[in-house]
Amino acid sequence: MPLFPLDFMDKKPIGKSGEFVPAVGVGTWGIRNYLNAENALKHALTIGLNLVDTAEIYGSGKAEVIVGKVVREFSGDVFVTTKLPPERFVDRDEAIAAARASLRRLGLRSVDLILIHWPHPHLPIDRQIKSLEVLADLGLCRYIGVSNFRVNELLSALEATSKYDIVVNQVKYSIYDRGIERELLPLCIREGVTVQAYTPLEGGLVASDKRIADFALKYGKTAVQVALNFLISRPYVLAIPKSERVERIDEFKGALGWRLSDKDIDLIERIF
Ligand SMILES: NC(=O)c1ccc[n+]([C@@H]2O[C@H](COP(=O)([O-])OP(=O)(O)OC[C@H]3O[C@@H](n4cnc5c(N)ncnc54)[C@H](OP(=O)(O)O)[C@@H]3O)[C@@H](O)[C@H]2O)c1
Repeated sequence: MPLFPLDFMDKKPIGKSGEFVPAVGVGTWGIRNYLNAENALKHALTIGLNLVDTAEIYGSGKAEVIVGKVVREFSGDVFVTTKLPPERFVDRDEAIAAARASLRRLGLRSVDLILIHWPHPHLPIDRQIKSLEVLADLGLCRYIGVSNFRVNELLSALEATSKYDIVVNQVKYSIYDRGIERELLPLCIREGVTVQAYTPLEGGLVASDKRIADFALKYGKTAVQVALNFLISRPYVLAIPKSERVERIDEFKGALGWRLSDKDIDLIERIF
């Protein structure tokens, strides 16, 4: 039996908000060619992968600039997440200034979700969360969340909220790196916190993994699609792989619309 009940949904809840987003979105870290990335992102939105992850620090703000451009030019809905470094949450004014600077780069009046990129090692979590909540209060984002928060940090964050829910914890999760399955993922499922799985392809390594390729062959899929499907088969988990190549964006989409069987998930859990 797999560790978690199989989730067949290709739309995942955003926390307990009642809103749903695609189970596979796109990331924007480490862009090498911005023109290619822009085209890939445009394509992602057109084919329904309309969930984009970015951050203040990606390309020193350049990633936010192209995300904003593509989102503004797109006629449909897009769920945009950005992340601010933890030192921005030292107080409300600093957080407001950083969020406004992100929004200026994006050319948007607000984003859907702002995350604390990683927990500040010295600032108490309740202080970080208090500053984060101010951003939602001012309408700079619709939802708030965290990233790289471990179990105790997430528990403190959940406790610290006064008005808004923590809807997302964005953490590393891949077929090779399943550490969150022990405690963090069960906690997120229990508390209704969506896990955004980052580096879900291990930087592309899964694409050439022979063990994954065996499963891929059986389903007529690629190793990348199997690796993503494994992650989104977990309740409350969505994945945000990155590519600046249009054909790879199509490949990501092919992770949707089917599921590995219980038996194969169980087998994969034993292999990795
Ligand atoms: N919160 C955090 O601290 C944090 C940390 C890391 C990442 N993230 C977010 O998560 C997103 C994804 O993570 P990631 O970028 O670290 O890693 P990833 O999605 O696991 O891998 C991206 C890399 O894989 C390559 N790739 C994509 N499809 C491929 C394929 N079919 N075959 C071979 N290679 C392929 C891409 O190259 P091409 O572009 O050339 O296709 C890119 O270099 C990031 O972009 C970012 O938005 C968040």
